[in-house]
Parts: sequence; C-alpha cells; structure tokens
Amino acid sequence: MNLFDVYPLYEVTPVKARDVYVYDQNEEEYLDLYGGHAVISIGHSHPHFVRKISSQLNRIAFYSNAVQNPLQKQLASSIGEQSCLHEYELFLCSTGAEAIENALKLSSFHTQRKKVIAFHGAFHGRTSAAVAVTDNATINAPLNSQHQVTFLPFNDTKALEKELATEDYCAVIFEAIQGVGGLDEPDEEFVYAMEKLCKKYGSCLIADEVQSGFGRSGTFFAYQKYQITPDIITMAKGMGNGFPIGGILIHPDIKAKYGMLGTTFGGNHLACTASLAVLDVLKKDRLQEKTKTLEAYFREKASEISKIKKVKGRGLMLGLEFDFEVSGLRKQLIYDHHIFTGGSSNKKLIRILPPLTVKEKHFDYLFDALKEILENN
Ligand SMILES: Cc1ncc(COP(=O)(O)O)c(C=O)c1O
Repeated sequence: MNLFDVYPLYEVTPVKARDVYVYDQNEEEYLDLYGGHAVISIGHSHPHFVRKISSQLNRIAFYSNAVQNPLQKQLASSIGEQSCLHEYELFLCSTGAEAIENALKLSSFHTQRKKVIAFHGAFHGRTSAAVAVTDNATINAPLNSQHQVTFLPFNDTKALEKELATEDYCAVIFEAIQGVGGLDEPDEEFVYAMEKLCKKYGSCLIADEVQSGFGRSGTFFAYQKYQITPDIITMAKGMGNGFPIGGILIHPDIKAKYGMLGTTFGGNHLACTASLAVLDVLKKDRLQEKTKTLEAYFREKASEISKIKKVKGRGLMLGLEFDFEVSGLRKQLIYDHHIFTGGSSNKKLIRILPPLTVKEKHFDYLFDALKEILENN
C-alpha cells in the first residue's frame, strides 16, 4: 500500500533524537531549530519525559472519559499554577485543530450565535471549523464553506466594531503571534480593543496558543504580554513535547454542561503524564525565563548579517526575513549544514522554533552557516 501523498518531504530520515539533535539511519547529526513545528519544548527524548511515560505505560496507558482520571486534575492544577490562570477550567483533547474546533463550538453554545471573525494570515488547523477560520482558500474544501467567517486585517478597530455590532458573532479568534502566517503580531492597542469590543457586543475572545503557548514566547501564553482575559485559550504543540495532546482553557463565565464537549482519546493517562513531565522540566529548568536571554542573543547575532532584513517574533518563536525567497537557503541549511528550520506563508521568512533547551552555541552554528552560504551566493 502507498501513502496518500500530501506532504512534500525532505530527504532526511530521523531514527533517533536527543535534546536539540536528531540523527538519521547513518548516525548523521542534524541540529533541530524547527522542533518538529514548535512541538519539541523540553528537548527530544528528555530523560524525565521518557521515565515518566514509560512508568505510566507500565501501569495504565488509557481509559476513556467515563471514569475518574486524577492525572487530568493534576494537569489542570499544574497548568493553572504555571500560567497563573487558576480560575480557568481545562478540557483536554489530542491535537491543535481539535482544540480550535472545541473552542469555536463552545463559543457558539455560549452565545447561541454562529459567525466568527478571524484575521488575515491566520492559521488555525485543517479540520472543519478550524480550516474555515484559516486564511488559505487552497486548503478549504467546498464542505468547509458552510461556516460563516469574516476575515479582517489586524489593527482595523473600526472594521472590527462594525462587524461585532451586528451581534451575530460567537467569537473573534486570534494568534498573539501568527505562526504559519509568518510571525506578525497585532498592535497592543488593537489587542485591548478586541477584548473591549468582544465584551461590549457579547462575543467570545479566543486566543489561539497552539503554537505560541507553553512558554515558547517568553510568557506562558503569548497573549500574556498584555493584560487581557480571553474567554477561551487553545493549546497543543509544546504541551506534550511530541506526545499528541491538546486542550482548551475556559473562563468560568462559560458554564459546563454534561455532553457539551467530548472525546475518546483526549486526556488519556499517557497524554496527561507527558504534559505533566513537560511542565516539571519547564519549571525546574526555568526554560520559559531563559527564552528572553536567548532571543536577545539571537537578535544580536542576526544584526551581524546585512542580508537579514528583519528579525520577527518573540522568545523562541523567531523568524529571519530576507529580501528574497528562502526555500533554496533552507535546503542548503538542511543538506549542507544539517540544520532544520521552518518556512511560512511568507516565502521570504525562515522560522526558528527550537526546543526551549537550545543554547547560544547552537545559534552560533546557525549564523556561521548562514554567513558561509550568503557570502558564497
Ligand atoms: C496557531 C495554530 N493553531 C492550530 C494549529 C493546528 O494544530 P494541529 O496541526 O495540531 O491540528 C496550528 C498548527 O500548526 C497552529 O499553528
């Protein structure tokens, strides 16, 4: 049987990984500055992560949400503690798109409305409502067009108010730092306007932290750079360090009802254990705090290369913008220098989404490679 061919693949086959490195079948080492798309938070195969999951696997790996699972409560209180969002409630699922589906559905239950506002450049996933609020017509099938979505530019407060004033919208969904879109951020004023207008017209504000959450941006959630209170927060990638887990945090104004949301796999024992191990390491090794120094170092190194036009992003969710398309450059980084990086819908941007355990020396290695490639071009 062949695989359904939807992914353009690089010719690299990782078979083993440790911390910030992955290794192919010939033991060739690659520096992972992509983190498997911002997923690897505490480093590949972190010993604490492996130990905790292995020991959980030997006790019980899974049972459905029909019985008590104390690990879910433990996870809720750890997330509450580390995000300082004690009053929110947690619903667990397995992927980012599923978190988005649940967030949108919940906002619709809560408001009894069905339209959504999303932003230009947004990426929220591939499933039904998640892809409908994603600003990319080519990945939306006719089936997805049943959703009623209005796309607005960031920072146009007037347009936002005009739409919200119709009182037809269940939610405004935004990324505090756009991931796939290319690391654009709304202005601070606009973030506060979104919160205020959502409250005024009875819509839910959904912060999509699937990519930026769990410490990657320097705060636990990227929106926490601002003093706002979203109604729902979505999370996934860094939450499980590669173990599939996602979730939403729900403001206590939104009340739960039996049957409102549900999943078979979400919140299973192994997934909770994986996420608890991530939180242990984040806290013990102060990884979130360290992103700030690493970002400053990265920006300083980038400033030494004149062909880099701009550094975008925050913490360890960073991008290097050039005045040319970077797909060739990324191929050279991978094949000639063994460095994984990410792309985005901005074709001139290289994304850097490393494990949060990355060190200055790894950035030195990247910038030396960039200098060598760019000098020879
Ligand atoms: C901001 C954001 N939201 C949602 C998703 C969807 O997550 P998943 O691929 O786990 O379904 C992604 C994936 O890249 C994302 O970056």
